[in-house]
Amino acid sequence: MAPIYVDLVEGKDETGTGDQNTPYRSLAQALFKHGEDADLLVRKDAAEPYDKPTKSSIKSAKKDAQGKMKKAQKALENKEKAVAVAKEKAAIELVEDPSLPAAVKAKINRLTPLRSKRVRVLGWVHRLRSQKGLIFMVVRDGTGYLQAVLAGKLSQAYDAPTLPTETSVELVGNLQAVPEGKTAPGGHELSVDYWRVIGAAPGGDDAFTTLFNESTKPDILNDLRHLVLRSETASSVLKLRSMLLSSFRQSYAEHNVLEVTPPCLVQTSVEGGATLFKLDYYGQDAYLTQSSQLYLETCLPSLGDVFCVQESFRAEKSLTRRHLSEFTHLEAELAFISFDDLMTHIEAIICDTIDRLLANPISKELISTLNENYKAPSRPFMRLSYVDAIKWLNDHGIQHAKEDAEGNPIKDEDGKEIMVDHVVGDDIAEAAERRMVDEINRPIFLYGFPVEIKSFYMKKAPGSSKGGQVFTESCDLLMPNVGEVVGGSMRISDVDELMAGYKREGIDPSPYYWFTDQRKYGTCEHGGYGLGVERFLAWIANRYTVRECSLYPRWTGRATP
Ligand code: 4AD
Repeated sequence: MAPIYVDLVEGKDETGTGDQNTPYRSLAQALFKHGEDADLLVRKDAAEPYDKPTKSSIKSAKKDAQGKMKKAQKALENKEKAVAVAKEKAAIELVEDPSLPAAVKAKINRLTPLRSKRVRVLGWVHRLRSQKGLIFMVVRDGTGYLQAVLAGKLSQAYDAPTLPTETSVELVGNLQAVPEGKTAPGGHELSVDYWRVIGAAPGGDDAFTTLFNESTKPDILNDLRHLVLRSETASSVLKLRSMLLSSFRQSYAEHNVLEVTPPCLVQTSVEGGATLFKLDYYGQDAYLTQSSQLYLETCLPSLGDVFCVQESFRAEKSLTRRHLSEFTHLEAELAFISFDDLMTHIEAIICDTIDRLLANPISKELISTLNENYKAPSRPFMRLSYVDAIKWLNDHGIQHAKEDAEGNPIKDEDGKEIMVDHVVGDDIAEAAERRMVDEINRPIFLYGFPVEIKSFYMKKAPGSSKGGQVFTESCDLLMPNVGEVVGGSMRISDVDELMAGYKREGIDPSPYYWFTDQRKYGTCEHGGYGLGVERFLAWIANRYTVRECSLYPRWTGRATP
């Protein structure tokens, strides 16, 4: 029998094999591995030769080896038991009882009339808890949340107590109103008589619940947007968004404004070349649209007043909380109106839409969950001229950074930005605008901006030329916490004035021939506006950033997922 080597200093019990090159560390391990009759050689010091162990050390090593043996036996038994239990659970085959009444398949938000009936619900496990042998499962199907109770064999199948959330399931059972004093979503509970897993979700490191929480960094949340959408807040914002859009559509229908769907691929700019996304279009230059305004204008003689809900694109390098590279633009254009009519119409559409949302119990509930203190704004909206706003800012000590010719802030010797008062002609910056509207704390129509800070198509205000300064019939609607949500204006109706506008902005009129033609073939006084849906939603739902108000937001550098 070959001797088994034990080196009490340098040997290793876990990886040793007992030969001279890989000795064990303890006599007990050597006996445990090779049996009590093994021929042992031991040394205490690498400098000494191996020798027979003493009788007393063999005696105590034998005792330890027996302990190890028992432990190993127990571990084996436990493992076998666990495998057997798992097999048993997997083998719990649930079969739907054909003698029970046929179940009605229904979405969760349509369950109330089906109380006391057998129903079939399909969805995703949102939350799960086990209590006294019962499993309480909250299931979500996008339309709502339903609490289901699993008892007896049903609570054992599929390892139900540890079922990972986000697993998709089918549940069948009796729907019962919850007893008085107890609460459950919808006021009822499903007493399950049959269920099955449709698609399992992972547990462990990949479990949905470990992927993100309130303290997860925004970058990770942005990459996981497809899963974040499943959370209660994100889905509430998006449900409200959907209801907001349908409320707007109803308001437009009531105001006799027709929906149209203008193109996204265009060859003209509306709001200046600096924010255009350019692309190669069969060898020609084309852009993603910045605004559908010019196309809406062409619809007036054909369809009357029109609106659209269209994506607009802006190559904005601004990483602010209210800028997106792609946003949903609600735009409308109205014929034969005055500037006052335009502002009155914007206010009416917005207020009708808000009233409709607050009159509907579902959207009302969504608003109060997201924005507890939301109140419909008082009307009429405040109207503040641009010139008065400049005065207001100066009276309230709200300054702006002095800029060089390229628009970069000028700094003093200490590297601090030099702050100066506003003067007529300044483009009021986002920060100043927000401070003003937050302070006034109600919607403000800011109107009458100077011609040189506005687009080529804006109509000049009649008789507005003061001290060499020419103003336009333009307005921005500002909301507290968000700032500008709407930008609108009356449009130049005279062909010569429009040509001068192209010239002032250095625009080649030829690609705009179709837009110019509107003035040639029966012009009319007209105006319109664009409302940023994400900004408007951020205002109603009290979201910090417009990024939360878009399904898959895009901003500088981000187009994933
Ligand atoms: O003020 P803007 O640039 O006006 C226009 O595009 C006009 N042609 C619209 C029209 O008269 N039909 O944009 C209108 C609104 C803004 O008030 C803002 O709410 C939103 O569109 N908006 C943006 N929202 C998110 N990210 C951006 N980068 C946005 N740019 C504009």
